[in-house]
Amino acid sequence: MTWIVRVFAAVTVLTVYYSCLVSFLQTILPPVSQSPISKDSSDLAATTTALPEYDLLWRVHSTPEAASAAGRWVHRPHQALQYSTAHLQCLDQERQGNCHDPDAWKYSNDKAKQSRHRAILKQAVANSPGILNASDPWVWESDYGPYQVLPYDAAIYKERVRKLLHNRTIYLIGDSVTRQWAQVLRCELMHILDYSQEEAERTIQRLADFCGEALPQVPTFLQNAQPHDYLVMNYGHHCGRGVKGPEWSTNYTKLLSHLQDLRYGHLPDSHIFVRTTEPRHFLRGAGDWNTNSSQAGGSQPNMHAKWSLYGGNSPEQPMQNKLLLRILASEKRRRPFQILDTAPLMLARADASFDGTHFCLPGPHQLWSQMLYYRIEQQEL
Ligand SMILES: *[C@@H]1O[C@H](CO)[C@@H](O)[C@H](O)[C@H]1NC(C)=O
Ligand SMILES: *[C@@H]1O[C@H](CO)[C@@H](O)[C@H](O)[C@H]1NC(C)=O
Ligand SMILES: *[C@@H]1O[C@H](CO)[C@@H](O)[C@H](O)[C@H]1NC(C)=O
Ligand SMILES: *[C@@H]1O[C@H](CO)[C@@H](O)[C@H](O)[C@H]1NC(C)=O
Repeated sequence: MTWIVRVFAAVTVLTVYYSCLVSFLQTILPPVSQSPISKDSSDLAATTTALPEYDLLWRVHSTPEAASAAGRWVHRPHQALQYSTAHLQCLDQERQGNCHDPDAWKYSNDKAKQSRHRAILKQAVANSPGILNASDPWVWESDYGPYQVLPYDAAIYKERVRKLLHNRTIYLIGDSVTRQWAQVLRCELMHILDYSQEEAERTIQRLADFCGEALPQVPTFLQNAQPHDYLVMNYGHHCGRGVKGPEWSTNYTKLLSHLQDLRYGHLPDSHIFVRTTEPRHFLRGAGDWNTNSSQAGGSQPNMHAKWSLYGGNSPEQPMQNKLLLRILASEKRRRPFQILDTAPLMLARADASFDGTHFCLPGPHQLWSQMLYYRIEQQEL
């Protein structure tokens, strides 16, 4: 009898050991099988070189005051985009954006607007004066290529951006913060660059995805993408501790690895940007969106803000972004994607927070657009 027990125990141990080994290998090795959305093995040749700016990005994310390491927010009202009434009305259609009208919550039953209003009454969200009156006078500048933005110079900006966007579609994949950005881009196209609404909607297209749930839809979303188009993806807020629990990084690692197995229409890898995730501007240890008390925001940009100041109950930065850089930008990467590193500059902009996680519009999202324009112009013209 005992030998049966022993053999059974040995088989069980070996089975568990084997399945652990297999799942471990699956996390570190590129998949062998061809799923329908995988590329052919011939064009999946592994990249063995790091992104040229990898060391810079890594250093910035490893610096506590990362905004200062990447560049600076400077007070230049004349270099900030000017918003017409129609432009503001366009931005106000985004449910988590209107901070300049203190009565915005009265006009709708939108939970997001109600919750901002309650947070304001409790003095749980602070904003800078320019954010509250829709004329943010702060613009971003940097000496480093990856952090530079196309400056807003009223005399030439419109033609310059129209030229670099000509005949292109910008595809965006991500969560509600990406949804906000998509609206910022469309409104700029209509109200600064004179696109029709139809042209703006055709030029800026977005697929909602939180933490990879919509990956099977990516090939359909990108089926008309042409080689000159661009894609910017972001995964972060819904892949952190608050949503996925303490083991979030295992899940996130797999997701980022899997992004390198997908087919992205006819887009070349150099036109695929992965965007880093801005910190959640809830003060660390002072509650979160789902607690009765929280603290978020600020009264002006804070160039000395540290990663450790923020994150509320889900303090994954800078670790989550560093994981992203290791997997997609270091010599370990398998595809030569680009990184759009919007996180460090946002570290300094708690003052622009709508509710701790989203941003007031108009606000610093505009500088993400100008950072993308700069990168497209560098590649194309
Ligand atoms: C917005 O507020 C700032 C700071 O108080 C002020 O300098 C600026 O003139 C205001 N702008 C508008 C359009 O009211
Ligand atoms: C736009 O791009 C398409 C390729 O997708 C090309 O066939 C067409 O000629 C381009 N149109 C213009 C006006 O450049
Ligand atoms: C991540 O976790 C979710 C459940 O929270 C699961 O459905 C999903 O398959 C996981 N993704 C990966 C890539 O492990
Ligand atoms: C918030 O406060 C209400 C009553 O004031 C209480 O019933 C609820 O449990 C509290 N929720 C949390 C998450 O602390």
